[in-house]
Amino acid sequence: MKIKFLSALALTVAAVQCAPQTDIIQENVDNAAVQLKSLIEASEAGDTVRIPSTYQNGEIVYVPTDDWVSGFFAGTLWYMYELTGDEYWADHARKHTEILDSIQNLKWHHDIGFMIYDSYGNGLRLKNIDGYQDVIVNSAKSLSTRFRPGAGVIQSWDSDKGWQSERGWKCPVIIDNMMNLELLMKATWFTGDSTYAKIAISHADQTLKNHYRPDYSTYHVVDYDPETGEVRGRYTAQGYSDESAWARGQAWSLYGFTVMYRYTGDAKYFERAEKVADYLFNHPNMPEDLVPYWDFDCPDIPDTYRDVSSAAIIASALYEMYGFTENALYKEKADKIIESLSSPEYRAAQGTNGGFILMHSVGSLPHGSSIDVPLNYADYYFLEALIRKGNIEKGFAPVKY
Ligand code: GLY
Repeated sequence: MKIKFLSALALTVAAVQCAPQTDIIQENVDNAAVQLKSLIEASEAGDTVRIPSTYQNGEIVYVPTDDWVSGFFAGTLWYMYELTGDEYWADHARKHTEILDSIQNLKWHHDIGFMIYDSYGNGLRLKNIDGYQDVIVNSAKSLSTRFRPGAGVIQSWDSDKGWQSERGWKCPVIIDNMMNLELLMKATWFTGDSTYAKIAISHADQTLKNHYRPDYSTYHVVDYDPETGEVRGRYTAQGYSDESAWARGQAWSLYGFTVMYRYTGDAKYFERAEKVADYLFNHPNMPEDLVPYWDFDCPDIPDTYRDVSSAAIIASALYEMYGFTENALYKEKADKIIESLSSPEYRAAQGTNGGFILMHSVGSLPHGSSIDVPLNYADYYFLEALIRKGNIEKGFAPVKY
């Protein structure tokens, strides 16, 4: 593996800039502006600021601030600011970020990393707003309360609440949890306190060891004994079966280990991301347009749903991987995904889709929830991928710290 370390200078130079975009990027930004303005109007109607998550049966669905997807709309608006330099987006991004203020104290699930880093993290990076860094550090403290030292992992879900309580799990950890580690790495960066990074690294190492099959597909859930660290079982919650490869889990795995490589420079994390990429692109059920079915092992393929959110996450991760290796394959595959998602097959016509950009994602098929609908995180990672593509094509590092 040839790894190209990106210089701090390149990363600094990559601060907000609004240089000319390639056509597919500019065209997508123009389209997103129309869609998202209507979503802002709807979500800010009246005196409240509501959080749009999806559009179903002709209605926008809003979620409470403690829902795992609550940070993505704010993050999407921050990305529009980054893509355009237009303060309109920053103003609305800020409103949608600051309604999440109390989430810094959330301790009952692990998703605080997604929620706070997408919103406050992007706001801090782009606008350096007073107080945002404190929210990030407090959130990292909250997430750290879920660390189980005996097992060396962050517990994803409480095992005594909701449908999880019916599974007999003690310390369930889902692959998605890799996405919460950036919050911890960043908290160490800000404070100099290595506690947060040590937790993140321990969690990543246990995941590396226990979450994968020999073909480098990942299980969704690994249940640990929190005292001894023994693996009690491997399961799915959102996939087709315990032994199947749920598409979004594979996407989180690719993205999560790439981010851990970014923060640590530890080659074993990047090597895992490369194995996951090989798995994805050599899978016989990966469609030609590179928009995965919701589960790679669903027996109904090709007569089942695609999951656009997985495609968007994979594209964004691949651009970052390209930045580390200059392996042309990663950029070619990511560009192909962007091309597919920009087509009328997956991208909504203006004035439709409740204002969301992309159609055809799957939240959780086994739970009958959000099937073949837009999802706010599909839009978030799509815009993130466009930013990374633009940066690469302008000669900058694809990602910014
Ligand atoms: N983290 C939950 C999901 O990917 O659906």
